[in-house]
Amino acid sequence: MKDFNQKIIIITGAASGMGRSMAIQLAQQGATVLISDVNLARLNETRKIIEDNKGKCKTYLVDVGIREQIDTFAEQVLSEYKYIDVLINNAGIAIGEATLMEIPLTDFERLININMWGVINHTRAFLDVLVSRPEAAIVNTSSVFGLMGIPSQIPYCVSKFAVRGFTDSLRLELSGTNVAVTCVHPGGIDTNIVANGIHYKNKEEIVKVFHEKMAITSADKAASIIIRAIQKKSKRVMVGPDAKLIRLLTQLTPGIVDRAILSRKKKLESLTK
Ligand SMILES: NC(=O)c1ccc[n+]([C@@H]2O[C@H](COP(=O)([O-])OP(=O)(O)OC[C@H]3O[C@@H](n4cnc5c(N)ncnc54)[C@H](O)[C@@H]3O)[C@@H](O)[C@H]2O)c1
Repeated sequence: MKDFNQKIIIITGAASGMGRSMAIQLAQQGATVLISDVNLARLNETRKIIEDNKGKCKTYLVDVGIREQIDTFAEQVLSEYKYIDVLINNAGIAIGEATLMEIPLTDFERLININMWGVINHTRAFLDVLVSRPEAAIVNTSSVFGLMGIPSQIPYCVSKFAVRGFTDSLRLELSGTNVAVTCVHPGGIDTNIVANGIHYKNKEEIVKVFHEKMAITSADKAASIIIRAIQKKSKRVMVGPDAKLIRLLTQLTPGIVDRAILSRKKKLESLTK
C-alpha cells in the first residue's frame, strides 16, 4: 500500500500507546481512522488530537474480548462506510509476573479472549470486505513474546504465539488475493501496557522497572515502523532494536536465549522484591 490517503482504517485499542500513535499518524497521512477501545474517555482524547489536526476519525466503544460486540461493530462500520482498506488488530492486555498455578483461570481466559480471539474475530468480521478491495492489509500485533517462551508470562506468550501462528497461516491462505498480512513483533515499547495489565503483586515496582529498563522505543517511533511495514507489505516486522536482537538470537542460539531469560528473571525478581 503506497499511501494511506482516503483509505479507511480500523485500529483497535487506540485509546493509548501504539494504537493511539498509529491513529494520529495515519490520520495525518489522509486516512479516515475508525478507532475502538474499552476506554472511551481516552479514546475521545485520541479523537480530539486527530480532529484538532484536521484529521478524520470516528470512535467506537468495543470490547475486543466479546464476539457479539465485534459483530455489532462490524455491522455499524459496514453500514456507514461500506468497506475498509486496512484492519489493525492492536488491542491487547498483559498479565504481570505470575506462574501457571498462580494465575486465576478467569484472568487467563480473559487475556486469551482479548489478545487472541479479538484478532481472529475481527479478521473474520472484515475479511470478505478486505478481499473485495483492490488493495488491503491486515496487521496483527504479536510480540517478542510470540518468539520465545517466558516464565511467569504463560498467558501472554500463549496469546502472542497464537497471533503469530494465525497471522502466518492466514497470509498463506490469502496468497493470490490483494490482502497483505503483516505480523508485528514489538520489543519493549514505552506505553501503558504494563500499567494497564493485570498484576497480583508488586505492580508499582513492575511498572517502574518496565519503564526504566525495558521500554526503550517510544510509541510514536513504534507506530512509524509499523506504518512503514504496512506500506512495504512486510510479512513480519520487528519493532525496536531489542526485538531485532531477540529474533536473531532465538533463531541462532535458542539455548543461550533461555539462559539469558532465566538470569534476567532472577535480576527482575531481586529488583521488584
Ligand atoms: N508495549 C510493549 O512493550 C509491547 C510489546 C509487545 C507487544 N505489545 C502489544 O502491542 C499492543 C498495543 O499495546 P500498547 O503497548 O500500546 O499498550 P497500551 O496499554 O498503551 O494500549 C493498549 C490499548 O488496548 C486497549 N484494550 C485493552 N483491552 C481491551 C479490550 N478488551 N477491548 C478493546 N480495547 C482494549 C487498552 O484500553 C489500551 O488503550 C498490544 O497487543 C500489546 O500486547 C506491546
